[in-house]
Amino acid sequence: MTTPIQNDRFLRALRREPLDRTPVWFMRQAGRYLPEYRATRARAGDFMSLCRNPELCAEVAMQPLERYDLDAAILFSDILTVPDAMGLGLSFAEGEGPRFADPIRDPRQIDKLPVPDPNVELRYVMDAVAAIKRALGRRIPLIGFAGSPWTLATYMIEGGGSKDFARAKALMYDAPDAMEALLAKLSAATSLYLQAQIEHGADAVMIFDTWGGALTPEAYVQFSLEPMAKIVAHLKRVAPTVPVVLFTKGGGQHLELMAETGCDGLGLDWTTDIGQARTRVGAHVALQGNLDPSILYASPERIRIEVAKVLQSFGNGSGHVFNLGHGITPGVHPDHAAAMVAAVRELSPAYHG
Ligand code: CP3
Repeated sequence: MTTPIQNDRFLRALRREPLDRTPVWFMRQAGRYLPEYRATRARAGDFMSLCRNPELCAEVAMQPLERYDLDAAILFSDILTVPDAMGLGLSFAEGEGPRFADPIRDPRQIDKLPVPDPNVELRYVMDAVAAIKRALGRRIPLIGFAGSPWTLATYMIEGGGSKDFARAKALMYDAPDAMEALLAKLSAATSLYLQAQIEHGADAVMIFDTWGGALTPEAYVQFSLEPMAKIVAHLKRVAPTVPVVLFTKGGGQHLELMAETGCDGLGLDWTTDIGQARTRVGAHVALQGNLDPSILYASPERIRIEVAKVLQSFGNGSGHVFNLGHGITPGVHPDHAAAMVAAVRELSPAYHG
């Protein structure tokens, strides 16, 4: 069909196949810490206009690759495109984060929510996937992504970001059937959305469950893990060879259950020891992570020492994708990200071969 990807270390690590070194990319690698990103966003006008312009999405997705030797690119978009396509009216006010014009304020709204056709309402995302693939050529793989149903539901019910998820949790505890109906709809929409990203060229996909860690263990299984497991099952039916990575921030206690979904990799935040995680689930899944993103505020010398600790904790052999434990923050100097990538390059071959 197509020619193979030249540097497929990222995909091979997710399949736990032998490698010469540990692949590296990082969450939010295209973003505000890069002055060239801020310049492109200014040309687009605002963040959503940037997301709706496939050529500019390709431009910003390529920007970190021009600075750093990275082993994967990630789609430039946002997880909240799906609820926007369901009619909630997404906007981002400068410096304020996401806002929905029509959040879910009544469980009766849930039945009326449409499941968007990814090739219609989310056409601009598919066009961005295709444009980024064209810009990348066959150099490195492209990661597609979506939010977890639970994480999307929190934004849809709260109307934006939240500290305590008061409305979302009240609905979950008072009307669990309504919450399950919403999550089922989001699982269906996300399954089709990720399938379409794969059909347009994504080589692997990642599900961001940013707020699963806010749930009790029992609620996590019912309201976060099970909806994600449905998506994994769908993707494994339609695209069995495409690796799927699950990332629950604050989900370190749930790794065994997450691995049982049949996913290929687990993202770890920095609060879990990656070596201990490997002992628990490393026979079944690859691990992605997990340098504390705040370490990038320290000196390049310190960054190198902390990178070495993560590599050493994982230990010998394949099955590790180096990453941060969460997204890079806007205040980080781009040269400090370079120090991290260089340290992975230089220090990781000792753990392979
Ligand atoms: O990683 C990448 O480089 C790919 C692009 C990407 C963005 N958002 C671009 C973005 C990805 C993978 C996301 C995921 C995302 N979006 C998540 C899950 C991952 C996580 O961080 O836990 C969440 C919760 C969102 C929702 C969202 N988008 C919020 C809360 C905000 C505002 C706060 C913030 O961090 O800026 C966004 C905006 C956003 N998404 C920006 C970018 C580059 C910044 C927008 C700007 O330019 O001002």
